[in-house]
Amino acid sequence: MKSLPRCSRFATLAGLGLITLASLLTPAAVAADQPVKIGFVVKQPEEPWFVLEWKFAGQAAKDLGFTLIKIGATDGDKVLSAIDNLAANGAQGFVICTPDTRLGPGIVAKAKSDNLKLITVDDQLIGADGKPMLAVHHLGISATKIGQKVGATLIEQMKQRGWVAADTAVCAVTFEELATAKERTDGAIDAILASGFAKDRIYKAPQRTSDIPGAFDAVTILLTQKPNVKHWLICGMNDSAVLGAVRAIEQRGFTADSCVGVGINGTDCIAELERTTPTSFYGSMLNSAKAHGYQTAEMMFHWIKDGKEPPLDTRTVSVLITRDNFRQVLKEQGIRD
Ligand code: GLA
Repeated sequence: MKSLPRCSRFATLAGLGLITLASLLTPAAVAADQPVKIGFVVKQPEEPWFVLEWKFAGQAAKDLGFTLIKIGATDGDKVLSAIDNLAANGAQGFVICTPDTRLGPGIVAKAKSDNLKLITVDDQLIGADGKPMLAVHHLGISATKIGQKVGATLIEQMKQRGWVAADTAVCAVTFEELATAKERTDGAIDAILASGFAKDRIYKAPQRTSDIPGAFDAVTILLTQKPNVKHWLICGMNDSAVLGAVRAIEQRGFTADSCVGVGINGTDCIAELERTTPTSFYGSMLNSAKAHGYQTAEMMFHWIKDGKEPPLDTRTVSVLITRDNFRQVLKEQGIRD
């Protein structure tokens, strides 16, 4: 099998040579003998994606010799008290995937008043003006591009299976209040439209919560409204969204022969891909949990220890895994033995 691209990244501003002045002026933040402590706060600690981010951040802590403080914060109050706790425990900085990106200004203000460095991962903070807070260091996925790959894969599968477009419809499980989620499903829809697929056969199923039950409920409603579709193409913001949709659709008698879904993350669908009888969950765009966990923690460490400011914006890419290749790819990425 040909070797897979390593998770590449590009730092938009650093790439253009626009390293901020602060990076040139900031001295090393801690004395040589002061222990470095870094917080890693995540919004959904039960989701395998975040468990893996923590695992890889833990590897960075071991390799570089710092203390990692892992905190699950599922709402705004928990985020704010997590930041205070980190400061009280002597941390010098933290990486966060917040449960609500609109907490942006509050998180920045609290980090500042507690004198903690801040890097966001996965979900970019939104400012009071409703726009992404570009001055906050961030590492996230190339959401639009990855969504486009999902859309292209779904169309490819539809054609391979010989399904007629007139019998087929798209179920896009959406969570549009989160920018990275909207970019993903918009990207998928764009690629589907670009293939010539009819716009009026693309249906959105908005999730109330970004988890499997949230997707299941949203898709159950859609299926009641559209009883005559023969084949479904399913996309969503991540594996959980597509898994919820697949469960709802299969409950109506659809099978791997009559519909197809492609997730994003690749970390939350392993049990699904391992099932001996294939389901409609065809595959997933595997993101690099290592880049998101290890690299953010490493960037924070060097920022604290050596005063080396990380790039303002780093984006990661992904690779399609299916039943055919997932074992090997997960092994290569250190996710599975
Ligand atoms: C969001 C999603 C996660 C994962 C990350 C990847 O936070 O909720 O499931 O897809 O983005 O950056």
